[in-house]
Amino acid sequence: MLTGAGISAESGIVTFRGAGGLWEGFRPEDLATPAAYARDPEKVWRWYAMRYAQVMVAEPNLAHRLLAELEREKGDDFLLVTQNVDGLHQRAGSRRVIELHGNITRARCERCGHRQKLPPPVEFTPPPVCERCGSRMRPDVVWFGEFLDAGLLASAERAFMTAEVALVIGTSAVVEPAASLGRMARSAGVFLIEVNPETTPLTPLADLSLRDPATKGLEKLLGG
Ligand code: APR
Repeated sequence: MLTGAGISAESGIVTFRGAGGLWEGFRPEDLATPAAYARDPEKVWRWYAMRYAQVMVAEPNLAHRLLAELEREKGDDFLLVTQNVDGLHQRAGSRRVIELHGNITRARCERCGHRQKLPPPVEFTPPPVCERCGSRMRPDVVWFGEFLDAGLLASAERAFMTAEVALVIGTSAVVEPAASLGRMARSAGVFLIEVNPETTPLTPLADLSLRDPATKGLEKLLGG
């Protein structure tokens, strides 16, 4: 499985692209790049703290829960790869999760790399300080221009190329490696299913394409 921001849309978390999206009226380069952080760390942290607070009041929706249930059925034959940083899959009970873009509820030390959970939003004043070495910490997410964790990406690619079915839900499939994972699976002969209310660059490749929101699409595929 690969999920994107669209699976959390019905939990009230706004997606990045499209009308009303997070990137509308913002230039991602101003917020989600190493250069933006070097220029104005307070501004970048304010934006992440605001999104962190939104994520913490959101609840996983039926689509997250159906995927957690599917994992319980399939066990080791299941892998969930997500581009989302909201942690809602884990809160819904998913355990075999690869978070390609990190997690907004954690920070990472700029000096020693130590990761720690952020305090609850009401107690949180950015920037967080490393409990190990006292240095400033940055959001534990992957920014534009940064590399994904090579080991995680390799595991995701392996899973997509050897699966029976690859399911891609709620991603615009314009940011790599989302587009490539689906494409790779397809060219390896894996049955590719897409769930998205809009068409994407993956749509023409999909064996089955459901033009539905994630909850409805997954209910059709998995529920009952
Ligand atoms: N159910 C399923 N899909 C939905 C829903 C829904 N209820 N609502 C919207 N969508 C779809 C949109 O049609 C769109 O194709 O979700 C997709 C969201 O696309 P993006 O906002 O581009 O999100 P994503 O693909 O996850 O973005 C990739 O871009 O900025 C970066 O790091 C960020 O991980 C993110 C990456």
